[in-house]
Amino acid sequence: MDRIQITGGTPLIGSIQISGAKNAALPLLIASLLTEDRLTLKNVPNLADVNLLVRILRNHGVDLAVDGKRPGSSTHLGDTFHLTARDIVDTTAPYELVSRMRASFWVLGPLIARMRQAKVSLPGGCAIGTRPVDLHLTGLKQLGAEIDIEAGYVVARAPRGLHGAHIVFPKVSVGATHNVLLAAVLAKGETLIENAAREPEIGDVAECLVKMGSKIEGIGTSVLRIQGRDRMEGAVHTVVPDRIETGTFAMAVAATGGDVTLEGARSIHVKHALEVLAQTGTRVEDLGTGIRVTRTSGGILPISVETQPFPGFPTDLQAQLMALLTRAGGTSVIRETIFENRFMHVQELARLGADIQLHGDTATVKGVQSLTGAPVMATDLRASVSLVIAGLMAEGTTTINRVYHLDRGFEQLEQKLSRCGAQIERIASH
Ligand code: UD1
Repeated sequence: MDRIQITGGTPLIGSIQISGAKNAALPLLIASLLTEDRLTLKNVPNLADVNLLVRILRNHGVDLAVDGKRPGSSTHLGDTFHLTARDIVDTTAPYELVSRMRASFWVLGPLIARMRQAKVSLPGGCAIGTRPVDLHLTGLKQLGAEIDIEAGYVVARAPRGLHGAHIVFPKVSVGATHNVLLAAVLAKGETLIENAAREPEIGDVAECLVKMGSKIEGIGTSVLRIQGRDRMEGAVHTVVPDRIETGTFAMAVAATGGDVTLEGARSIHVKHALEVLAQTGTRVEDLGTGIRVTRTSGGILPISVETQPFPGFPTDLQAQLMALLTRAGGTSVIRETIFENRFMHVQELARLGADIQLHGDTATVKGVQSLTGAPVMATDLRASVSLVIAGLMAEGTTTINRVYHLDRGFEQLEQKLSRCGAQIERIASH
């Protein structure tokens, strides 16, 4: 298995192009199941999770052609995906594939809506909590799906098709909102979703669905009103820039010091995280075409933060923020309110000399004078990149094992950082 080796202590200086958002690209790829016409997606990131989802979609009968050219890479890694689901040849999404990535479970909604039946394995994904799917299933049942759980599979039928419904989610769920939205567009009549997730990736998917012929009101709010249609059409859509990648690199610059422009980043999507960074003493400037992050002098100030659904501080940046705060001049408090088990990075950060106490959902981070490089283990996607940030701050060499977690969600991570002066390299396994 590949490892990443980092020698810390170099400030980051330069510019980084922000990639298309993984968490938008995945449901957008799934939206191709809704139509027999061609859906073209531009700015698709080259990630292990995207490749895995493509395998799942191909199994359902989706044809894929790839073109375009990624900046700095060869043509075969094109970033424009043309997807055509003319015939859905298989409505089963097998355990072997779905268990490796939670978002693949979202094929359920579109498959029932278009094919009136689906059999999808219960999901897997990052081990960051129990992550149930009850909200997905309740929502789809309200749209008229009959659902049974059989041998680890969700077996869904809607012999007469889906119908509109008034769905009030008791809890904000990104995945359940995607799943229900992707089904409601092909349901008969109007669907009203209340307490929908407002993450920008939901808005991006909704905008693509509108291009495909849907009528959706309330995009960007927690109330979505969807008029169902008999059929959806093809469309061309560009994946929104990745706000989690943006926040991650912004924290890396805050951690090492330096001056980096995040090209293409949208500050409106990371407003809360940028405010938090400003509180730590980092300068953040919206350039219109990107975001400039600077920390040239002064230490890192301690802060208190709690994760919340959008527009609050994202749970997907919690680990990265914690890495930054390990070197703050005082004690910080981070409360994780979304996933109960999302502190796997704590023990790895401790290996580098961080001083972090855990009590239930709260981490108390006492800033230390310095971190020291050590071998560490990547445990999940966002935890892994927090170790990269810590490694960039640490004295000496940090080796991160199990980097396949990083490859799931960060495009060209080492290249982007090393172009800004970081001493980081991948050591391939033989
Ligand atoms: C998505 C994101 C993930 C992010 C998370 C929260 C993608 C591919 N993944 O994950 O990166 O960390 O949103 O912003 O976009 N829950 C239930 N029942 C359900 C569904 C969820 O209780 O049926 C709970 C979860 O256990 C969790 C909370 O709701 O505590 C939020 O989860 P959810 O928003 O659904 O996360 P995901 O869609 O899995």
